[in-house]
Amino acid sequence: MIQKVRGTRDILPPESRLWAAVEAEARRVFGGFSYEKIRLPVMEPTELFVRGVGEGTDIVTKEMYTFSDRKGRSLTLRPEGTAGVARAFIENGFAQRPQPQRLYYIGPMFRYEKMQRGRYRQFAQIGIELLGAATPEADVEVMTALHLFLAALGFDDLEILLNNLGDPEDRPRFIAGLKRELEPHRHALCVDCRRRWDENPLRILDCKVPTCGELVAATTPIAEVVSPEARAHVEAVEQGLAALGIPVERAPRLVRGLDYYLRTVFEVVSPQLGEGAVICGGGRYDRLIFDLGGPQVPGIGFAIGEDRLIEVLPQSFKDKVLGVRPVVILPLAGEAVSVAFALARDLAASGLQAQVEVTGRSLRAALKWAGKVNARAAVLLGPDELAAGEATVRDLDRGEQERVPLAEVVGRLSGN
Ligand code: HAM
Repeated sequence: MIQKVRGTRDILPPESRLWAAVEAEARRVFGGFSYEKIRLPVMEPTELFVRGVGEGTDIVTKEMYTFSDRKGRSLTLRPEGTAGVARAFIENGFAQRPQPQRLYYIGPMFRYEKMQRGRYRQFAQIGIELLGAATPEADVEVMTALHLFLAALGFDDLEILLNNLGDPEDRPRFIAGLKRELEPHRHALCVDCRRRWDENPLRILDCKVPTCGELVAATTPIAEVVSPEARAHVEAVEQGLAALGIPVERAPRLVRGLDYYLRTVFEVVSPQLGEGAVICGGGRYDRLIFDLGGPQVPGIGFAIGEDRLIEVLPQSFKDKVLGVRPVVILPLAGEAVSVAFALARDLAASGLQAQVEVTGRSLRAALKWAGKVNARAAVLLGPDELAAGEATVRDLDRGEQERVPLAEVVGRLSGN
């Protein structure tokens, strides 16, 4: 038997309904904030991620699905969405459109990661990017949209953590200080952190190894060494969010795993998914478009890991989505088939879910099947009913049934 690739998943019904409902909610909420969908290629030139995400990052050094095409060009399955959005912004001359541009995307990303709960090699992200606004208000908007989206799904236990990474100019000063403070303990750092020491020292800050965490806890937080402008920016973001009643918490060691961030960075963690389970990550990236050869256009955004989001969805949302039950229509005479489909069409058009019995089952077998598909009602169309221009509507929970004129079936099943 051929099996799926390790780290990929089949999203099957009924779980796929949750995915559809979450994505519909994303379209509704982000659409409400005037974000427009952008649909980008899943493969990009490898160089985009090397330059965009950063050469020393785990994503680029260890996790990319990179291959040569038939002409020997190096291509990579996108590990994230922001670099592609920046590429498309430049390539399609989006700087000529009214600024800022508000974009969102939903789609698969690929990272060759060690498998564990909530960590897959193909996973989906729902992301938004606000390009062309450098103000703290832009950050507040993006995080407000995120908060509203999560609230619309019924979440009330998620924490938004935020930090200030300062500007790239602040970084050498911070890194020099960090290394000075860690130098006496350098031998005690984990193998990965000793490699990061030269390649990407910022990443030492969010190493998950407990001994590294303890050493880092004693160092000066990055937010304390940033420029006054960067400090004022992130404080204004916090004030803006507080004014809207959106709770955020400072996380002085939060650095994120991608190189393009500056100033505001944030994550959403779910206590339910366990230690360090991040559902959403984001931040400001004012140099990315320029670094990729485009104009000086600032940006801010985030991406939600849809697989992880679905794993911790509130029960209330799941019940609402999974609680939808079909109505089955049973044509019990040859001439009833067209009446059955006309009825199914009317039920579907009114927002209900209908299924016509199309395998030719007897009444007894059809009712058994109706139970298995968890139908809430069956509409029986036999010769008697047809002759009278009626249908028998049976409530499958109560076992009661009544004859209803055909024109009234939809109203009866909609509860009108
Ligand atoms: P990221 O933190 O690398 O940021 O990924 C965002 C989210 O994607 C994570 O918080 C997590 O929920 C989910 N995720 C990442 N890797 C996996 C995996 N292997 N399996 C399941 N879920 C995963 C970015 O990708 C940035 N582009 C976010 C951003 C947008 N920043 C600005 N704009």
